[in-house]
Amino acid sequence: MSAIKPNMLDGNRRNVLKGLGLAAFGCPFAAAASAHAETPPAHHMTDAPVANVASVNDKVPFHGRHQAGITTPRPANGMVASFDVLAETPEELEALFKTLTDRIAFLTQGGAPPELDPRLPPADSGIVGPVVRPDALTVTVSLGSSLFENRDWLKPLKPLRLSRMKKFKNDALDASLCHGDLTLQICANTQDTTIHALRDIIKNTARQLVLKWKQEGNVPVIATPPGAMAESARNFLGFRDGTANPDAGNDEMMEKVVWVGPERGEPEWALGGSYQLVRIIRNFVERWDRTPLKEQELIFGRTKTQGAPLDQRNGGEFAAPHYDDDPEGKLTPLDSHIRLAMPRTAKDQLTENLILRRPFNYSNGVTKSGQLDQGLLFICYQGDLEKGFITVQRRLDGEPLEEYIKPIGGGYFYTLPGVRDASDYLGSTLIAAVRKKTL
Ligand code: HEM
Repeated sequence: MSAIKPNMLDGNRRNVLKGLGLAAFGCPFAAAASAHAETPPAHHMTDAPVANVASVNDKVPFHGRHQAGITTPRPANGMVASFDVLAETPEELEALFKTLTDRIAFLTQGGAPPELDPRLPPADSGIVGPVVRPDALTVTVSLGSSLFENRDWLKPLKPLRLSRMKKFKNDALDASLCHGDLTLQICANTQDTTIHALRDIIKNTARQLVLKWKQEGNVPVIATPPGAMAESARNFLGFRDGTANPDAGNDEMMEKVVWVGPERGEPEWALGGSYQLVRIIRNFVERWDRTPLKEQELIFGRTKTQGAPLDQRNGGEFAAPHYDDDPEGKLTPLDSHIRLAMPRTAKDQLTENLILRRPFNYSNGVTKSGQLDQGLLFICYQGDLEKGFITVQRRLDGEPLEEYIKPIGGGYFYTLPGVRDASDYLGSTLIAAVRKKTL
């Protein structure tokens, strides 16, 4: 595919203009240059980097039974922003849901923001230019237990398994990075698009939402050779992360693992939604980088370069480990991360404790003690929070990896069902259920 690179055209245009004599063409570029008696450089250092022209137009459909951003492909950049909700009445909450629906529908599908009277603030921040491109943006809206518990008219409608995240053994939770009434998971090809979406939503919901915390992250983009299978992205400990994730393209599997259906006994309004788990997990990367390779591999139960299970070293990333042949853990230690997380007993194979992981690496700066503040923005979805994340995390409690990681924030949330079509809005089934109850 031959992608046109706009900045290459810009560069060529500079050369052409230089060659032809700038002033002769009366273009604004030439006029500005002659006014300052300067010739623009052919390779202007501060030109915007050349993008893949196709990817800015990547569009993830907004309407559907489920929200986008869960089983849709994970792009390179992601963020979770958590808010307090100011809405106190069903009408105010409905207004917030409708505003969120309008903004997300526009931002994810792209277009030109309206031109307003210049005496007013502009409709758009302008940080991605005059036309908003979809750039694979998804914005996924989820609700925290506090939203329900602090409103008598919402309390009876709280999803059954939604609670306030409690501390696990290795956690050092920072209250300013935990919980919230509502989260936005914002994902896109570029960080600029996620920031643009966040600013747009903050501006348009200023009277209804107060930002509590946010964590951004990204995953490295790799070039997959033609015909080769894409490999899982690496985390900040250098291992391929996501290998054993269930297949997000398998609808039947996603019904079992991710989506809330009638069999789970959840309130009817919640059907088609999912439980979202967010954990901000710091990685002690300096300590990890001083740990022998062999030990690193035993901690995870996989090889570092290929991501192969330790009992199938040459089997490649997607070979299945055979723990039955290694009951004492001589090849794959019994307390290795993958063996604890998923023991692969017959029960597990019935998808009982499966979760769909969607993590991003984060890099925040430097701690007060002079260490890199890096880690994993761990996000996963499941139809049953207790059988999913909570059970898997309990199995992991005390794992050797804990010497290198420290969960510091996050929370439990319920992801709203999708917006069916243009006549529907996010949370419409919840608002209808509230009205039915208060009639
Ligand atoms: C900083 C923290 C973590 C790191 C660096 C990490 C890294 C990894 C790596 C490298 C793998 C092997 C490749 C793969 O299948 O993805 C893995 C697997 C897995 N992790 Fe984690 N992980 C972390 C936290 C967690 C947490 C909090 C959970 C859930 C409670 C979790 C659940 C799983 C599961 C279910 C698997 C797949 C096991 C299998 O089926 O073989 N991980 N993780």
